[in-house]
Amino acid sequence: MSDSEIKVLGICGSLRRKSFNMAGLRAAGELLPAGMSMTIAEIGDIPLYNQDVFDAGMPEPAKRLRAQIAAADGVLIASPEYNFSVTPALKNAIDWASRPPDQAWQDKPIALFSCTGGPVGGARVQYDLRKILTQIWGHVLPRPEVFIGNSASKFDADGRLTDETTRKFLTDLLVGFKAWIERMRRR
Ligand SMILES: Cc1cc2nc3c(=O)[nH]c(=O)nc-3n(C[C@H](O)[C@H](O)[C@H](O)COP(=O)(O)O)c2cc1C
Repeated sequence: MSDSEIKVLGICGSLRRKSFNMAGLRAAGELLPAGMSMTIAEIGDIPLYNQDVFDAGMPEPAKRLRAQIAAADGVLIASPEYNFSVTPALKNAIDWASRPPDQAWQDKPIALFSCTGGPVGGARVQYDLRKILTQIWGHVLPRPEVFIGNSASKFDADGRLTDETTRKFLTDLLVGFKAWIERMRRR
């Protein structure tokens, strides 16, 4: 980890072309505090986890994700909630990156937010993500928690985050995430 710019990897739990969570990640990229930058990972091409495939040699998309996580100073996850829990695409990506040796989540600062169609905003998926990521030694920012419900009313037709209150919530999350990453560096 360098002392210069803080490099964040964004991971979106939805593969949908017009995903609100991907739109939220793009908005977060514009709201980053000075000294932070973000790239967004592709996870849609990672095959379903299969131990036989892992043993035969990790597929390139999984290798790529592991390398991106390892190189990042922090990971920002934006995900919808599917049936009160984690989407298959995101859990698959987490699982591929979690296998030893050199599992990629070890001591990685992580921040979460979620966008959903309904009003609750993904509270349940975030608690499942915290459970999963903590047990593989990821360090998830405790607060602020950002749950973006009724997403269709917060983004315009081009996927721009137009709701000022939500922009402020995301900004606060990113300011907190920067401090969290810096705190982890000092450990
Ligand atoms: C399989 C499935 C299950 C869903 N389950 C939930 C749920 O438990 N809670 C919720 O708030 N929304 C649920 N939704 C609705 C999503 O929040 C909504 O589709 C959201 O826009 C998806 O995120 P995206 O726009 O990033 O693709 C579900 C959607 C799908 C496809």
